[in-house]
Amino acid sequence: VKADLYIKHIGQLATCKPRNPGPVTGSDLDYVEIIENGAIACLDDEIVAVGTTAELDRQVNPVNRAVIIDAPGKVVTPGLVDPHTHPVFAKTREDEFEMRNLGKSYMEIAAAGGGIRNSTRALRETSKHVLYDNAIKYLNLFLQYGTTTIEAKSGYGLTTEDEIKQLEVIQMLSENHPLDLVPTFLGAHEIPDEYREDKNGYVDLIINEMLPQVAERNLAVFSDIFCEKDVFELEDSERIQLAAREHGLHLKFHADEIVNLGGAQLAAKLGAVSADHLVYISEEGIDAMAQAGTFAVLLPGTSFYLDLRDYAPARQMIEAGVPIALSTDFNPGSSVTISLQMIMTLAANKLKMKANEILNAVTINSAHALLQGDRIGSIEAGKKADILIWKAANLRQIPYFYGVNQVDMTIKNGRVVWDKDGTKKG
Ligand code: NIG
Ligand code: FE
Repeated sequence: VKADLYIKHIGQLATCKPRNPGPVTGSDLDYVEIIENGAIACLDDEIVAVGTTAELDRQVNPVNRAVIIDAPGKVVTPGLVDPHTHPVFAKTREDEFEMRNLGKSYMEIAAAGGGIRNSTRALRETSKHVLYDNAIKYLNLFLQYGTTTIEAKSGYGLTTEDEIKQLEVIQMLSENHPLDLVPTFLGAHEIPDEYREDKNGYVDLIINEMLPQVAERNLAVFSDIFCEKDVFELEDSERIQLAAREHGLHLKFHADEIVNLGGAQLAAKLGAVSADHLVYISEEGIDAMAQAGTFAVLLPGTSFYLDLRDYAPARQMIEAGVPIALSTDFNPGSSVTISLQMIMTLAANKLKMKANEILNAVTINSAHALLQGDRIGSIEAGKKADILIWKAANLRQIPYFYGVNQVDMTIKNGRVVWDKDGTKKG
């Protein structure tokens, strides 16, 4: 086979190719295929062959000026997939971080007009151009820290015009930056200032104006909602998400994050692709999600950063057969990190997940949680050439080290986009 990128002599090639196709659940989550002395051949933006170095040396025909990389003693994995982020915003909120550390809660700050509404006022006054430039620096960091695809939500506009503005910035970013962004409409993120006395009016606006325009312009794959007490309760959430479904959008939920409202059951009932957060999910919620095959996207960085005592009951969910993915929830309020590596460490010691489970949850499963499981998330012939070379000597070292970047090289679409010397290429 012809190759323009050939990585060989890989210490441990962790392919994340599952035993059976589809999302990885239950005890299978603890399995990762490892090829010792592995090799990967790529052509253009695709993986064309995977095996041992001995096998591939016999098959691979590097083209003139092919890039050939030796990776002895290194772990190689698929590029990480982050299935829940809010990366387009106008300003940071370090004042709220400090208020929380002095004793105010996230919801108290929100009720007083801060939080998401704070970000909304700022985004409405900010041009597309400035929002775009702000986001680019975070997208560069995602690549450096090993993330090659993210989901990206709107939700700081909260008018038809400003939600579309935010989604258009996400579209421009995905077109112009090597990172891939999967767009989600989150008009139901909060009730904006001008509708505080008329929540139904805002729900109507989402249903009658925002959703039809977002769908018509093809600006989103998913529709998400902050389904939470005193924000969008179950009834509002069902109305909005049923309308979204009619417009052909797939569903995601911010569910059971602050209290147990039953968002998990609603997500399962409506056939949502995922319900996210789930710190206060009930047993009925876990059963309903397992039954429906709804993904649990767990965000331990949010509990950590809001300094909450509780974390999602990951072990119970895994045992019940719920498909699990992990994400940063990167946003300027409740979780200000782009590092899935940090989340991997939190998944180990707060969610009690094992290294194999964690790796599957940030690769093949997070790809499926974005309906991209057939294109990304594992190292297999025919998939996109999104590949990481790690400093780590074995994959259990990845969650074990924390607070420093352990990625030596990020390859996106078959091109080296970052390496440890800080050189940006291609
Ligand atoms: O996932 N909870 C709602 N949305 C985000 C926070 C957004 C913000 O504070 O700006 C979350 O935690
Ligand atoms: Fe979120």
